[in-house]
Amino acid sequence: MAGSRPKDSESTTGRLWWRDGVVYQIYPRSFQDSSGDGIGDLEGIRRRLDHLEWLGVDAIWLSPCFPSPMADFGYDVSDYCDIDPMFGSLDDFDRLLADAHGRGIRILLDWVPCHTSDQHPWFQEARKDKESDKRDWFFFRDAKPDGSLPNNWLSIFGGPAWEWDEEAGQYYLHSFLKEQPDLNWRSPGLVSAMHGVLRFWLDRGVDGFRIDVIHRLLKHPELRDLPVIPGREGHGYGGLEHVHDENHPDVHASLRDLRKVIDEYDERMTVGEVYVTDPNITKDYYGKGDELNLAFNFALVHAPFDAARIGDEIARFDALVPAEGWPDIVLSSHDAPRHASRFDHPRFGDDRARLAAMLLLTARGTPFLYYGEEIGMRQIPIPEDRLQDPLAWTLHPNASRDGSRTPMQWEPVAGGGFSEGDPWLPMGDSERRCVADQREDPASLLWLYKNLLTLRRASPALMSGSFRRLEAPEGVFAFERLHPEQRAVVALNFGEDPITLDLGGGAPIGGLTTTYGAFLPPDLSSVELTEASGLVALTGASSGA
Ligand code: GLC
Repeated sequence: MAGSRPKDSESTTGRLWWRDGVVYQIYPRSFQDSSGDGIGDLEGIRRRLDHLEWLGVDAIWLSPCFPSPMADFGYDVSDYCDIDPMFGSLDDFDRLLADAHGRGIRILLDWVPCHTSDQHPWFQEARKDKESDKRDWFFFRDAKPDGSLPNNWLSIFGGPAWEWDEEAGQYYLHSFLKEQPDLNWRSPGLVSAMHGVLRFWLDRGVDGFRIDVIHRLLKHPELRDLPVIPGREGHGYGGLEHVHDENHPDVHASLRDLRKVIDEYDERMTVGEVYVTDPNITKDYYGKGDELNLAFNFALVHAPFDAARIGDEIARFDALVPAEGWPDIVLSSHDAPRHASRFDHPRFGDDRARLAAMLLLTARGTPFLYYGEEIGMRQIPIPEDRLQDPLAWTLHPNASRDGSRTPMQWEPVAGGGFSEGDPWLPMGDSERRCVADQREDPASLLWLYKNLLTLRRASPALMSGSFRRLEAPEGVFAFERLHPEQRAVVALNFGEDPITLDLGGGAPIGGLTTTYGAFLPPDLSSVELTEASGLVALTGASSGA
C-alpha cells in the first residue's frame, strides 16, 4: 500500500526531523477520550493535534496501542499488526497518521520485540504443540535434573523468571510479568516475522519506532545462571550480576539487521529503550551509525536537581555518543515519576520546571517531552483501591507507575476536558492547572515551552551546534552551543540564591529567560540570574570567548 507521508522532508526544509526536532510522548490511555469510556483513544489524539501543532513538536511517540489483554497496559501485545478496539481501529490510525503528516508531525509507534502477550497466537500455538515452528520462538525449558527451575534468572517485576505451563509441559521464560513470555531472537522464523511487522507499519507510513527494552533482545545462548553479587545473596533481582540476560554482545548483529529494514525506507528511525544507568553501555547501541538512530539516555531521569550532577551527565553522554550518532535528552516518561514532582520545592512553584524545560530544549540532542510536562503536571496520588499498574501488587504499591500516567488536564471543568466518562485513573486538579488556562497566560509554563520550541526551531546553534561546558560558579550549569553561523550560551542557576556570572562577553541578538518579563542582559560578561532561573542567549558565531 502507498502509505501516508509527511508534507515536508529534509530536502525541502534542511532539517532532519528526528535529529533536529522534538519528540512528544503520548500515553494513549490518558491523552484524550473521544468515546466516553474514560480511556483515551486514537481519535481523541487526532482531535488534539491542534495543541501539538501550536506547541511546535515535530513528532509524537505513542505508547503501545496494539491489541492487548492489558496485563502491562499494552506492553503485552497479542497482535502486532492491528489496533486495540479500546483505542479504535486501523482506519482511525490511518486517519491520525494522515492528519498528523498533513501538519508536518511524524508518528513513532512503540514496538515491543522482547516479549509478547501469553494470549498472542504465536504463544498459544507454541505452548500447545512441541512440533510447531513457533515453539522455538519462545524459551521453553525443562526443570534441571534436580527438579529446580531451568536457571536462576529473576523477573524484573518480581519473582522467578520461569513459569510452569501445564499445556506445554515445560517452563517458559518471562523477564517481566508471567503474561509476557520472552521471544527468542536466535530463531530465524521469529526474526523474519518481526521484520515483517516493521514493514507492515513502515508501508503504512509510520515514521519510526521506539523499541522496548532493546538491551534484553538477545540472551546468552545457553541461558547460563547469573553470578550472585558477593554479599547480596537474597537481594532478588538486584542481587544478581546481569551478565547473561541483558546487553549480550549478539544484540548488535540483530540491531544491524533491523537497521537495514528501517533504511529501506526514507527518513525513518528507531529510538531504543536501553534501560541501563551506565552511558558507557548505552553508547554501544549506536554501533557505527548502523544500529539504533537514538538510544535513550536515562541518566537525567535518575539525577537529582543539582547543577554539577546534571552537567556531568550531559557532558558525559555528549562525549560518549559516537560521531555517527546523536544524543537525546529525557527527563520524564510513563515509567518514572514526573520531573516537575521530582524537582519540586515549596519555595519555587513552577520555577524549577521552567529551568528543566530550558535544559531539555537547549542541550545538544533530541529532546523527548512527556505529555503534560508542558503544563507542569505533577504526580497524582492514587488511592490504593484505584491502583492499576501491576507493579503495585507484583512489587509494592509504592512501585506503581500510575501517578505519572494520569489523564491530561485540558480544561478547568469536571473530567478536565479529557473525558465525558469516568477517567480510568484519578484526574489531577484541572481547575488549578490545565492547558486552556495556561494558553491564556503568557507567563505560564506552557508559553515558556512554546517559546523555547520556537526559538530552537529557528536557531541552528540550538538544533545542531556543538556542546561545550562553560566555567560557572557552584550551583550553575552553563554551556555553549556553537554553529558556524551562530553561538548560543545557556546558563541555568539550580541554586537557591541569586548569582552574577561572566559568560564570555558579546551582546545577545536573541534568546529567552525562564523568568517571564525579565530582559536579556545587554552584555554576556555580566549576567544576573535569580535563584532557580536561567537564560539562553544567541550571538553571532564570532562573539564570546
Ligand atoms: C518497558 C516499558 C514499561 C514496560 C516494560 C515491559 O520498560 O517502558 O512500561 O512495563 O518495558 O514491557
